[in-house]
Amino acid sequence: MTVTIRPARWYHYCHPRNVRWMNDPTVTEFLAKRSKQTLRSTWQYWRSCQHAGNIRLYAIYADQRHVGNAGFYDVLPDQAELRLVIGDRSVWGKGIGTNVMQAMITEARRLHWKQIMLHVNPKNERAVKLYSKLGFQSAGMVPYPGADDQLKMQLPL
Ligand SMILES: CC(C)(COP(=O)(O)OP(=O)(O)OC[C@H]1O[C@@H](n2cnc3c(N)ncnc32)[C@H](O)[C@@H]1OP(=O)(O)O)[C@@H](O)C(=O)NCCC(=O)NCCS
Repeated sequence: MTVTIRPARWYHYCHPRNVRWMNDPTVTEFLAKRSKQTLRSTWQYWRSCQHAGNIRLYAIYADQRHVGNAGFYDVLPDQAELRLVIGDRSVWGKGIGTNVMQAMITEARRLHWKQIMLHVNPKNERAVKLYSKLGFQSAGMVPYPGADDQLKMQLPL
């Protein structure tokens, strides 16, 4: 399967597919709790990210099919926080998460960042394994609004 990331457009967020993913309790099990998502709320989310000025969003494609979204948040001159959701559960466990993370790391290097970090629920075994496999190191637990305490992980680039 060929996995690519592309700069996200409004229709990657404000689309019934993304609304469905973000209302899927299995997809969002380990994410911060949020209210029921609608086309309007996903549009508002997209707009708020554009206005924030320190967020870069990407759409994830597997064999030309949109399967999820990723982003760099709180972007500083030399680092950012990475977030990742593969919303289409039918493609989990096929190495797409690994390929997306590799693409995001390549993108971070292209932007000349020195580090990327992320927060992950330690119960999210699949995600913790994925990040550890790619060299992310644990950097302690942090409280997280609306969710379990999160494990902070970081990768020097
Ligand atoms: C976490 C997520 C990105 C993983 O994507 P994926 O495409 O399934 O990842 P991969 O297929 O590359 O698998 C990554 C690793 O997960 C582990 N894994 C795979 N299936 C697993 C399972 N059923 N249980 C536990 N670990 C599993 C493996 O160690 C695998 O690495 P390996 O293939 O080298 O052994 C994806 O499941 C997802 O987006 N989940 C919902 C949102 C989320 O939790 N995002 C992360 C927030 S921090």
